[in-house]
Amino acid sequence: MTIQFNDETFRDDYSYHNSAEAIRRFPFPFDKDDYMYAVNMEPHAGGREGSPFENRFDVDEHYVAEMRDREITLNEDPLRCQSLPHMELAGWDLLELIMECKAEDYPELFSLHRDGDRWHWINRPLGIDHKFTFLDPTTLPYGPMEYITRQAQGDFALLDQREGNLWMEAGMVTSQADWSLDFDIGMNFFEWHAPVPKAHEMGIFQRALKFLLAIQQGAPSRRLNWTMTVNPRLDTSPENYHKWGPEKRTLTPENVGEKQFLRVELQTFFRLPRSNGLAFPIRCYLISLQDLVTVPKWGRRLHRVIRDLPDELAEYKGFAVNRQLIIDYLAQFDDGKPTSPGI
Ligand code: HEM
Repeated sequence: MTIQFNDETFRDDYSYHNSAEAIRRFPFPFDKDDYMYAVNMEPHAGGREGSPFENRFDVDEHYVAEMRDREITLNEDPLRCQSLPHMELAGWDLLELIMECKAEDYPELFSLHRDGDRWHWINRPLGIDHKFTFLDPTTLPYGPMEYITRQAQGDFALLDQREGNLWMEAGMVTSQADWSLDFDIGMNFFEWHAPVPKAHEMGIFQRALKFLLAIQQGAPSRRLNWTMTVNPRLDTSPENYHKWGPEKRTLTPENVGEKQFLRVELQTFFRLPRSNGLAFPIRCYLISLQDLVTVPKWGRRLHRVIRDLPDELAEYKGFAVNRQLIIDYLAQFDDGKPTSPGI
């Protein structure tokens, strides 16, 4: 498989774009015409060929541009990457997991040669050819988590498991839907989820935590989450709200199809072998409404989901201010026909 990497930006002139193939494989998250939080977890054990679920870490046409965007964000704000000292072993676990998976799943892009603890890593799209000693941080230019997540799309949280809970104690977070690693670091599962409406009363977080604590090595899980973002911006962080928050007010009936994006997160959960920590990669996919409606069943369904969503969720997800504009735009693509269950 050959991937043509896009030359594109996620800020300033926002030249981000999806090819016809990227639209076709977009992880549309709704399997029915309405939406409410649920413990929507399933095994992360492959998926349809060419889909974002096929490989453990999806690499697509946005890879090189996303890594460039991460570098810009880190240069402006190094606190987007943090690891408490006891999480270094989990960082090595993550480095191993990502290198092994990428080399197996994309051999034309990545190679890993191992001779005991002497490792040789080649990342062709980013032009990296590096020999280092596994578990020896002096042989890497950054800590192990930072080194590998500068080469992997999506955000990453590393969770320590103790006292029957998960603790967010390391992460690389530059493409988040309005939450902050710097604020959340050191918190446990219930603490960092405190701002989410409705889900606590529904018992969702108790059930989800129980599920996560039991995840075994070699048997990862996944779920999808979604929100809405004006402009194809990866860095919608609280730290930079002053940059992207005002852009919400630039939507008009004329530009909503082009500037309003559905933002879908493919969240995966991997047990780590040495540290017994949990890795939580969050891969972000963006699609403009005008591209999304080229698939008629998606346009029809998204209209119904957004129209009928409880107010608290639209408020929490940050698009209440533009909700009516979005509904009016999508209504043109909803012919009122019944939809079939499933995606
Ligand atoms: C939102 C982290 C697993 C459900 C969030 C937020 C964070 C987060 C940082 C944003 C909270 C805020 O507003 O500040 C994590 C981490 C996880 C994890 C690190 C893995 C250990 C799960 C699981 C579920 C879940 C397994 C299953 C139900 C949710 C929901 C939201 C949320 C429903 C609100 C999202 C929205 O409406 O856009 N999570 N989460 N999370 N999380 Fe998790």
